Amino acid sequence: MVAKSMEQLVSLCKRRGFIFQNSDIYGGLQGVYDYGPLGVELKNNLKAAWWRSMVYERDDIEGLDSAILTNQKVLHYSGHEDTFSDPMTDCRKCKGRFRADHIKDGKCPNCGSVDLTDPRPFNLMFKTNIGPVDDGANFGYLRPETAQAIFTQFKNVVDSTSRKLPFGIAQIGKSFRNEITPRNFIFRVREFEQAELEYFVAPGEDEKWHEIWKEERVKWWENQGLKRENINIYTTPKNDLAHYAKACYDIEYQFPHGMEELEGIANRTDYDLGNHTKAQDEMNLTSNCHKNPDSTQKLCISDDNNKWVIPFVIEPSMGVDRGVLAVMTEAYTEEDLGEGNSRIVLKLKKHLAPIKVAVIPLKKNNEQIMSKCKEIKNNLLKLGIGRVALENTGNIGKAYRRHDEVGTPLCITVDFETIEQYPESVTIRDRDTMKQTRVNVADLKDYLRNYFAE
Ligand code: GLY
Repeated sequence: MVAKSMEQLVSLCKRRGFIFQNSDIYGGLQGVYDYGPLGVELKNNLKAAWWRSMVYERDDIEGLDSAILTNQKVLHYSGHEDTFSDPMTDCRKCKGRFRADHIKDGKCPNCGSVDLTDPRPFNLMFKTNIGPVDDGANFGYLRPETAQAIFTQFKNVVDSTSRKLPFGIAQIGKSFRNEITPRNFIFRVREFEQAELEYFVAPGEDEKWHEIWKEERVKWWENQGLKRENINIYTTPKNDLAHYAKACYDIEYQFPHGMEELEGIANRTDYDLGNHTKAQDEMNLTSNCHKNPDSTQKLCISDDNNKWVIPFVIEPSMGVDRGVLAVMTEAYTEEDLGEGNSRIVLKLKKHLAPIKVAVIPLKKNNEQIMSKCKEIKNNLLKLGIGRVALENTGNIGKAYRRHDEVGTPLCITVDFETIEQYPESVTIRDRDTMKQTRVNVADLKDYLRNYFAE
């Protein structure tokens, strides 16, 4: 069952420490959020799943971690300085500012007035002074996408890895856009995280690879727990394409606020590598790039026929925060337990769960039980499955409910039987079925190893 409303998710996120408003004690900073103790685990797990599937499980992709601060020239030649904008309109009555393409029926969303200015472009990049001299000339940008450094480092990666086409470069990191109207919780924010792959292919093979990546990425999202029926593939109309794209599929998800983009998969052609390439002279390049007088490099690669080409690029670009929102939306479940009882369960895939196992003493502050709990926790940590949480609560029912809400797949309870009987045993409670199984402590590691390997 999909979450009924964004409010339910926002409330759970705050209550249980997933996501908080940034600068909350000063009234917040619009469109900026912080990930709390469990949110950081969930987000890290989602990023790790992406990295594993892109970089570790494949043999044709390398990783990169580039800086956020970006030379102005990069974003000049990428086209972002000139074209990376949204249409903005002002309400003359209430002075509100809005994205013109989000206005319904020509009315101000604040006050309903129809007295709106004509839309004008508003550049979304954050410009920042770099260095001690603030004279307006020494500026750069916070990157608006992680992709650009993949293009500008293309030659360094090729030279250091001897890659041939097709191959990709993957990167996860923060990006920044000065959204006119941030909204829908962590869906549209000003500081966000992207996981982007630039997959370089021979010119002419781009359309084939565009289809392949579309299929791959839908499968990956299904592996993160999203049901296919909640996913839609949207083909961007030509007149809506980003300035660098020849074609684009959006993987959309049924968020609480509607079916919206979760990941874009664009065919960026040779636009970026071409535009960052030094003015062409002797090389027989296939690119239609314009002449760049500032670049020092030719961002090209030798193909099977020893001809220099500028590769085409297919770009699956995922919004990590949107991914967190999607998997939480899908996992959020309210269950009626009968007799007036209900529970909230976050049915996350186990590889995404912030806490993998909670070790819970049946009795609070009992030295013998707590010491056994600690021993078990330390042993389980060696499995490398992720966070194993140790509780010190006297209320086992409350602990189960709390761990249901945050998606902990298994709770291990240490009781008097554990410490008084031989062989030592504990109960393991399954989050989804609520069934409890008695397992010998000596078998715990194998049990969990098998459970988390599935
Ligand atoms: N790199 C694509 C995007 O940021 O939307």
